[in-house]
Amino acid sequence: MKLITIIGARPQFIKAAAVSREISKHEDLTEIIVHTGQHFDENMSEIFFEELQIPRPHYNLDINSVGHGAMTGRMLEGIEEILIKEHPDFVLVYGDTNSTIAGALAAKKLKLKVVHIEAGLRSFNMDMPEEINRILTDRISDILFCPTQVAYQNLVNEGFKNYDCNVVVNGDVMQDAAIFYSKSSEEKSGILKKLDKKDFILCTIHRAENTDNRSKLRNIVETLNKINREISVVLPLHPRTLKILQRNNISAEFDIIDPVGYLDMIQLLKHCSLVMTDSGGLQKEAYFFNKNCITLREETEWVELIEYGYNILVGSDPEKIYHAYSKMIKKEFKKENDLYGGGRASEVIVNNLLKTNLIMTPE
Ligand code: UD1
Ligand code: UDP
Repeated sequence: MKLITIIGARPQFIKAAAVSREISKHEDLTEIIVHTGQHFDENMSEIFFEELQIPRPHYNLDINSVGHGAMTGRMLEGIEEILIKEHPDFVLVYGDTNSTIAGALAAKKLKLKVVHIEAGLRSFNMDMPEEINRILTDRISDILFCPTQVAYQNLVNEGFKNYDCNVVVNGDVMQDAAIFYSKSSEEKSGILKKLDKKDFILCTIHRAENTDNRSKLRNIVETLNKINREISVVLPLHPRTLKILQRNNISAEFDIIDPVGYLDMIQLLKHCSLVMTDSGGLQKEAYFFNKNCITLREETEWVELIEYGYNILVGSDPEKIYHAYSKMIKKEFKKENDLYGGGRASEVIVNNLLKTNLIMTPE
């Protein structure tokens, strides 16, 4: 059976690392990796293939740094050519980026089977490019792997039981990655020594809803400056945000470092006092590594973290951010549940693909 995996952005490398590892256990499965090129800096792409031992991409389309239409359109054209040549049994796409929708659409138009990993998530905010990408990808997917029960319920609410597709709740492949790479992170990461800080808050900011709105971004950075006077803030900075901070003369007084690899990230997660982020992935990783989280967004797709009090949504309002920080920095983290499948999500995906005709739509 031939699988084509289409990836292009940082979080997709981490998700695909977990699933590829599982695929490689089966001799009757062949995986071909297509890198769209959406992320391309060494520390946004190559480092993940290297450290996480993801098989080298067979194709790299090198499409990046253009508007949504041009990016998605060029990817569509490039991916179509590869799919026609390779004719796979399944096309795997991950999450909600432009690489996701381009891969799904190219495959579906060729009548190939589309597998969406991380299906059913919703923010209910159609201003987000990610929400558009995920809704459209879900609708044209043949097999939808949902990381949570809430994601499954979102699809039920949208009438997916009436569509010709299979929906499976498999858990979160990011948890598989977090568990698997935790050990090599202990052995190989040198970030804590380099950073040389006892207590710090780990922060990331890159989402369009924050970076593309100057006053929101300024509010967040100024509030982080204020918090940094009480406890160090460390922010591995996405190149998107770096460009915008520089262009708008927004100055950060806290530690801005280059984006780090996943092994370093795990160490930062394990040793920080709190996570503050607008990243989707990081919200869950805070939970995996027993840390409270403050989400610098108005809504989240990972609502169970809010419900259980592990995460607080604050948007970009300075008072709300500071108030949440004062509360969460003191709060003890108590994990009383396992919200994301316990680390078997990739295995469920591969087992289902191996016996596609046995897939059941859960109640
Ligand atoms: C994309 C995803 C977002 C995801 C994020 C993960 C879409 C619409 N958005 O956002 O959902 O959360 O990836 O990180 O697909 N850049 C570099 N070097 C790189 C990568 C990007 O300089 O290695 C620059 C690009 O030139 C561009 C900007 O960052 O100017 C944004 O990159 P882009 O891929 O368009 O979107 P992201 O913000 O990374
Ligand atoms: N990440 C990383 N280095 C960084 C920042 C993030 O390895 O400097 C990892 C993070 O641990 C998570 C993933 O990248 O696994 C999240 O990606 P990102 O925040 O870019 O995208 P999102 O999850 O918001 O789509």
